[in-house]
Amino acid sequence: MPSSLSKVVTIERHILDNQGQHPGATGRLTSLLYDIALAAKLIARETTRAGIANVLGITSGQNVHGEIQQKLDVYADQVIFRMNDHTGRVCVMASEEHDDLLHIPERYPPGHYVLIYDPLDGSSNIDVNASIGTIFAIHHRITPGDGHGTLEDVLQPGSRLVAAAYVIYGSSTMMVYSTGQGVHGFTLDPSIGEFLLSHPDIRTPSTGKYYSVNQGRQKHWSRGVQRYVAWLQGLDDEGREPLGLRYIGSMIADFHRNLLRGGVFLYPADTGQPSGKLRLTYEAQPLAFIAAQAGGYASDGARDILSIQPENLHQRVPVFMGSRDLVEKAEQFLREDA
Ligand code: AHG
Ligand code: MN
Ligand code: MN
Repeated sequence: MPSSLSKVVTIERHILDNQGQHPGATGRLTSLLYDIALAAKLIARETTRAGIANVLGITSGQNVHGEIQQKLDVYADQVIFRMNDHTGRVCVMASEEHDDLLHIPERYPPGHYVLIYDPLDGSSNIDVNASIGTIFAIHHRITPGDGHGTLEDVLQPGSRLVAAAYVIYGSSTMMVYSTGQGVHGFTLDPSIGEFLLSHPDIRTPSTGKYYSVNQGRQKHWSRGVQRYVAWLQGLDDEGREPLGLRYIGSMIADFHRNLLRGGVFLYPADTGQPSGKLRLTYEAQPLAFIAAQAGGYASDGARDILSIQPENLHQRVPVFMGSRDLVEKAEQFLREDA
């Protein structure tokens, strides 16, 4: 075999090799992750063709949060559902774009896993050709038997996640996943249509270069958040050098940069949004899982996001995540000003 070939690790091979290490592994999770990767490739194809394929622009629909749905949101939402509704691997799904659970059609067998997803994250960026993403969270079902999944299966703390993944559609398309054995990144090679291992075992620096926040909302922040961000900017008495501000309004893009380079992403509670903006199950839990697996940390300002028991499907949560030292500092400021 040419030596260059031995270096090529497809995502399928990587997932298989990793899952094979689990005693009792059945291959079902491997197949589910591969189904997700396939959905991601389809979305990536539409994303890169968006400008020419007449899929830009809004649909008439609004999602359950009252936000206008973009056409690509709808496409991504449907592709992910269809790739997973018939395989016998998933017992129930939940998408950020739907009020209620997404049930597996009666004609197909329900499976062991629960799939929760944000089909298109950062959708306000679609029309301006900036990076967007998709987020996935996977739980084991907790209801007994092999019938259809229920709300109880979806509302589990992040600490029970079996796997989480995100896809970033940027200057290249990447899929980053964890099954609890570190975080691994793959870059889509469009010429062969495969995700190839490009970032094995990602470790996030314990402190960082960047902070990412919608600074325009500053007047709505609590005193604790104000003081924390001033600290990030080096404006307090410690006289530290400021971190750089990077914020694109696409959490996946902001999170991904900070994961690789070190930094903190925050979307705090404020007077206009008392629980913050981001959703616990679709956005915060899977990224908290990945952050933790890369050696980072995610908090709601007081506790580990992975410890929170969700109470409803579209629950929002304040978010501080990324490099551990920076997130713990946020908790300290918020505690002092509680
Ligand atoms: P979505 O596109 O799934 O609704 O998520 C958008 C989220 C997140 O990606 C981003 O970080 C945040 O909204 C940006 O919000 P602001 O415009 O308030 O900064
Ligand atoms: Mn989102
Ligand atoms: Mn979304």
